[in-house]
Amino acid sequence: MQTIENADALRRQVSAWRRAGERIGFVPTMGNLHAGHYSLIEIARKHCRRVVASVFVNPTQFGPNEDYSRYPRTLARDQEGLAAAGCDLLFAPDVATMYPFGVAQPVTVHVPVVTEPLEGTFRPGHFAGVATVVAKLFNLVQPDLAVFGRKDYQQLLTIRRLVTDLALPIEIVAGDTLRETNGLAMSSRNQYLSPAERETAALIHQTLLRMRNRVLAGDAVEAIESDASADLVAAGFRPDYAAIRRADDLAPAGGRREGLVGLIAARLGTTRLIDNLPFVRPD
Ligand code: PAF
Repeated sequence: MQTIENADALRRQVSAWRRAGERIGFVPTMGNLHAGHYSLIEIARKHCRRVVASVFVNPTQFGPNEDYSRYPRTLARDQEGLAAAGCDLLFAPDVATMYPFGVAQPVTVHVPVVTEPLEGTFRPGHFAGVATVVAKLFNLVQPDLAVFGRKDYQQLLTIRRLVTDLALPIEIVAGDTLRETNGLAMSSRNQYLSPAERETAALIHQTLLRMRNRVLAGDAVEAIESDASADLVAAGFRPDYAAIRRADDLAPAGGRREGLVGLIAARLGTTRLIDNLPFVRPD
């Protein structure tokens, strides 16, 4: 696997593959990779002859009091893991390559509606940062297909809307969330957790399962949401939300009982965790 930091060199390599008629898959990441990311590389591999990954800790998607500076940078280990997972090219640009005019006033991509509730309320500007950097990465890599994890459910909807509304010729494929044996969704941020917090953090998934079972049993959505928040508080979390929304656009459930998703964001100690669960009947 080759690692490229320079945009022109990236374009040269990708164009050569394209001229050879090879389909190109892309997995954007912020590094500090784990099995969840490698499963996205494998999905890209199944669909495409060539797989490009990017590692770029994107400053514009972090709020002023978020973990941009302490976000773990582990490029050497990421390179090994990506090569083993079958990635052909790692694009690892610096901030000046991605933001030639600086990060204070970049051209910004604003995706409406799906970015507004939930994470949009608690992390103002986050999805503008995500949509902007993903649009730039798409323009640099020019993939046929890109893979995003379902773990960041609202991000996945945001990217789908970006691609459809801007008519980008890129197929978006979703990868399932990988979980630890206790149910905790894999995330780079899990490494901020102490061993005891890691056990407690499993309650987020358990809470989502309870929310799903109660929705399927016909309980009132508002009662389920407030009980879920109360359960999280009782376990030591500070929840931002425990919400039941329409899976396609994150609008309130209204009278709907089908096509819903449960989403939780909660702080445990200094770590903010998010997870979600589509409410389909278990097989
Ligand atoms: O999901 C992530 O790791 C990031 O939000 C992404 C899509 C790489 C954009 O920086």
